[in-house]
Amino acid sequence: GRGRYRRSVSDQPCPSLAPTLFTWEFATDPYPAYAWLREHAPVHRTTLPSGIDAWLVTRYADARQALADARLSKNPQRHSESAHARGKVGIPGEQRADLMTHLLNIDPPDHTRLRRLVSKAFTPRRVAAFAPRVRELTDDLIDAFADRKEADLIHEFAFPLPIYAICDLLGVPREDQDDFRDWAATMIRHGGGPRGGVARAVKKIRAYLAELIHRKRAALGNDLMSDLIRASDHGDHLTENEAAAMAFILLFAGFETTVNLIGNGLYALLRHPGQRARLQRALEEGDEELLATGVEELLRYDGPVEMATWRFATEPVTIGGQRIAEGEPVLVVLAAADRDPERFADPDVLDLSRTDNQHLGYGHGIHYCLGAPLARLEAQTALATLLRRIPDLRLAVEPDDLRWRGGLIMRGLRTLPVTWGK
Ligand code: HEM
Repeated sequence: GRGRYRRSVSDQPCPSLAPTLFTWEFATDPYPAYAWLREHAPVHRTTLPSGIDAWLVTRYADARQALADARLSKNPQRHSESAHARGKVGIPGEQRADLMTHLLNIDPPDHTRLRRLVSKAFTPRRVAAFAPRVRELTDDLIDAFADRKEADLIHEFAFPLPIYAICDLLGVPREDQDDFRDWAATMIRHGGGPRGGVARAVKKIRAYLAELIHRKRAALGNDLMSDLIRASDHGDHLTENEAAAMAFILLFAGFETTVNLIGNGLYALLRHPGQRARLQRALEEGDEELLATGVEELLRYDGPVEMATWRFATEPVTIGGQRIAEGEPVLVVLAAADRDPERFADPDVLDLSRTDNQHLGYGHGIHYCLGAPLARLEAQTALATLLRRIPDLRLAVEPDDLRWRGGLIMRGLRTLPVTWGK
């Protein structure tokens, strides 16, 4: 299990023997392997489980620089060297489809234009005004299991909250939200596995969003979807396809990420009773400062996005002294960068009051997470409300019995069984 990596890191005299990546042990605890890579092979070419060869960037300074490097393109159509890689990046059957021409797959100037338009609709003000609804959603979810003595916090709490929240914000009517919940579940369940169901779910989502846009156009409201349709920049508007792709990326960039922030965050708190007690004391005293720094620390310590999404070299580039040829894929390993001892004091220690904490959990540069204010609101509300209402929450299984999803980009638990009051 976990110990094997630790030994191979510390007792291994020969630095040429890199740890095996993408195994079950690695999915459970990738951090010892990342420590080895940062030290011995900071920019490391490896073969991914999909068969694609890619460069992993693991040091903080290199990662930050790579995320802001305009020579690394986000568009797999234009720049990937191999048809093989092109075929495996993104959603099967959707490579050329409209939904995939979203922010995370495009470069300036297209990216600049779309990001400007969406920023006019998806404002921090809109997110702040949404806080009471997030509290209500959180309380409703807890109400459903509070009278029992056990729950699975992934399925009953972390999973439904973000999907209902983003559906509400977009203006998807309540009676349609359970369809979205099912489609989203299909996408998560199949993440990394057989993906036939995913293509079907995406088709349904596309048809639904097209219809929703038609309905909103006919009667604009106060929701985000209506504002996306209205948004204009010097007379420029989103086309119908662009609005649909934008709604799609908001739904899916904001979904599994937030599930995992709540899940990984709760798990880290349950494993660190001292830090958790500190947070509960602060919350009892009405002090929300530790909650704010704490959620940032949970993002750094075990964040939901293990690697930033695909980038491709548009020309030969050198990162951390390593030459990368034109067309080659680059994966920036946020989880490794955020534990770099060159940047963070005691990086493997969870310290909720850490303030020197410029982590890369939300990315960096022009693709920096558009939804960070919403993610913070949801995670802070979820953690604070749950700890206040069920203060004696405990893990119901041994940590070794928990299973991680083991996808490439995302890091999160399959289940988080907890118990209380017994
Ligand atoms: C981009 C993380 C929640 C919308 C990103 C990126 C990261 C990230 C690392 C950059 C990816 C890259 O450069 O390859 C997270 C985390 C979240 C979260 C850790 C939750 C804890 C959300 C939410 C939304 C959202 C709630 C929206 C509702 C987006 C969008 C982008 C993005 C639209 C693309 C921005 C662009 O390309 O310009 N996010 N995200 N995210 N995120 Fe988030």
